[in-house]
Amino acid sequence: MRLAVIGCGYVGLVTGSCLAEAGHEVVATDNDVARIETLRAGRLPIHEPGLDLVMQRACAAGRLRFTGDLAEAVGAAEAIFICVGTPPLESGEADLSAIDNVARQIAAAASSPKLVIEKSTVPAQTGEQLRRALAVYGRNSDTTFRVASNPEFLREGTAVYDFFHPDRIVIGVEDQEAQRQLREIYRPILEGKFRCPVHQPVCPAGRPPAFLVTTIASAELIKHASNSFLGLKISYANVIADLCERLGGDVEEVTRAMGLDPRIGPQFLNAGLGFGGFCLPKDIQAFLRLAERHGVDFTLLKETEKINKRRIDQLMEKIQKALWVVKDKRIAVLGLAFKPNTDDVRFAPAIEVVRRLLAERAVVRASDPVAMEKARAILPGVEFIEDPYRAAQGADALLLLTEWAQYRELDWKRISREMARPLVIDARNMLSPAEMKALGFEYDCFGRPALNTRTTLVTA
Ligand code: UGA
Repeated sequence: MRLAVIGCGYVGLVTGSCLAEAGHEVVATDNDVARIETLRAGRLPIHEPGLDLVMQRACAAGRLRFTGDLAEAVGAAEAIFICVGTPPLESGEADLSAIDNVARQIAAAASSPKLVIEKSTVPAQTGEQLRRALAVYGRNSDTTFRVASNPEFLREGTAVYDFFHPDRIVIGVEDQEAQRQLREIYRPILEGKFRCPVHQPVCPAGRPPAFLVTTIASAELIKHASNSFLGLKISYANVIADLCERLGGDVEEVTRAMGLDPRIGPQFLNAGLGFGGFCLPKDIQAFLRLAERHGVDFTLLKETEKINKRRIDQLMEKIQKALWVVKDKRIAVLGLAFKPNTDDVRFAPAIEVVRRLLAERAVVRASDPVAMEKARAILPGVEFIEDPYRAAQGADALLLLTEWAQYRELDWKRISREMARPLVIDARNMLSPAEMKALGFEYDCFGRPALNTRTTLVTA
């Protein structure tokens, strides 16, 4: 099918490139001219494993191209994915001005029937507003607009995998034709008929994705409800970690046993510095505001957010307790991205920690495998060092703030020798307390007692 993607951020780029790779003809557009130029030159403005390959293949096959002209993208398309940003307003509500803007432009540009699909994360009832805007601003043309919601469940860092191997594809529609078109768009994924950019030569056998057809309001709610529930799980694990610290338990032992119950499940129970990124924190806020606005008490979610914010305070307390005076201390920070395998530092807990350290006038040297460039733009006063060993040299403390796999493999013996004081605070519970202690480190983390010598549970 001929598709348009509006918004070349992370979601738009993954959606557009993967749909083109799956066989559709995609024209993607963005109002950021520099971004379009970068993409046209074959470069990606974000770090997302595997996406460069997908984009190059789709462009080379002539199925994906980029334009700065929205009308051109919309012109030939049968279906249009709106993938623009919905950042949080001061109030926590989602800023829908970009959606509104795009709706008006689509209405003005369209001269044939269009299916307009919300892909951006939006509060429930946005679909209705979108339909109204398209009708009002397109009133002078004979064009008909159909509206649908198709929330994305892509995780940064594994988005290409997620696109081709989703657990579920949710479409919120109002009519049969929209349902038919969306099924057609996702047919290659549903039938497993695509050249997988992740698995060679064939994908491992797995369950085909569930294709769920819902109302538009349900689809919108599914997205917010899912992200909020993930945040809730993480905050729950973090409170259990606090209890473990007070009572001498080990949070990993507790959450591992909990996760073996299929009703609970093992994922998103890793305690530590809490959740960040441009999705969970802002979606929880927007969902909360939506509930408030409609008179529904969602204190449960308010607490989730509060617990998450407190993680940073708790880490700062640990640092303060260990260092006594923070001012003038040299602190090495490993990890700046909000999670591994991405260069995204938006709402990253690590960024907030560094800001607090700078406010206390510590001397910060920071390292990250891919996020240093983006962090540099928002963190003046920090020395950025690519080599983690050099970042650790002469440091009074080392903080692990993002769980990049390569940090586990570091030569910690060497780091211990080179630090002024061998103190590691592992805010992501990555390393073994017993091993770090054996290497002579003063070591702290969240909810795992330093004296626990076991690293795995006895399962037999
Ligand atoms: C999240 C959702 O997981 C996706 O399903 C969704 O599509 C996406 O938001 C979105 O709305 O676009 P993402 O923001 O990429 O994906 O990141 P997550 O993998 O959910 O991690 C979020 C944060 O939680 C990270 O800071 C991570 O370090 C933290 N986390 C995750 C924990 O602290 N503990 C855990 O057990 C898991």
